Amino acid sequence: MEVSAMTDHTGAEVRGIDLTRPVSDEVKGILNRTFVAHGVLVIREQSLAPHQVLGAVELFGRVFLQHNTRFALPECPQIHYLSNQDRFPDGRRYIPGEGWHTDHSNDARPPKATALHAVTLPDSGGDTQFANMAAAYAALSAPMRDRIVGLVAVHVYQSSHSARKLMTLSEANKERVPNAVLHPVVRTHPDSGRKSIYINPIRIEAILGMDHKEALPLLHELLEHATAERFQYRHRWQPGDLVIWDNRCLLHKANGDYDMEQTRYLFRVMLEGDVPR
Ligand SMILES: [Fe+2]
Repeated sequence: MEVSAMTDHTGAEVRGIDLTRPVSDEVKGILNRTFVAHGVLVIREQSLAPHQVLGAVELFGRVFLQHNTRFALPECPQIHYLSNQDRFPDGRRYIPGEGWHTDHSNDARPPKATALHAVTLPDSGGDTQFANMAAAYAALSAPMRDRIVGLVAVHVYQSSHSARKLMTLSEANKERVPNAVLHPVVRTHPDSGRKSIYINPIRIEAILGMDHKEALPLLHELLEHATAERFQYRHRWQPGDLVIWDNRCLLHKANGDYDMEQTRYLFRVMLEGDVPR
């Protein structure tokens, strides 16, 4: 197995491993340490059936049940799919994952990681961008750090301030998904100890005790800072990629910049996380 860094802050590429085969404890340890150190693992040249995707991702933790079960695979509901062939009820195409976000932050214990396995890709485009929130936090000015430390944000399924609209939840799903949860705007990574900015333009409805007139410009300023190109790793998908990333210290977004007549279809699995602190 070979591991090489993709940038000096985010992303590591792993070659020379076949995740359809048993993985030793030693290799599992290396994979987990590399995941924590680099935030994004790009494991190349895998060809995994759904149950093998689960087996591979479970090397990193326990599977988290995703919120909107309309995207669950019937034969393996712990796995959801992402597809550009889905449409809103009014017929508009639904491109999952557009706009910077961290997954399912409206959960009291948001998933620590998300994994995607490329099944069908367009000829070009459809990259996934990642922004490193620990590097962005470290680069904040001291006055800005003082301003945001201790702030608590209200996360909901669909922020009324978000430009991106999500697919609505079924009544059954709504019962499982909290109305609102509170998370700190700065969180500490439980494994690395690094502090990160923890924001989500799609889910944050408010900052506790702060007027919208102050909160929205502050969140906008943080997002602009944190998603600067110097904090990014841009993943260009190759067939067979299994990519797993750390939601605790990264934002990510999909790009709908490719020929929509071509199918883009990936399997998605999430892993249980803990309460952000
Ligand atoms: Fe996402």
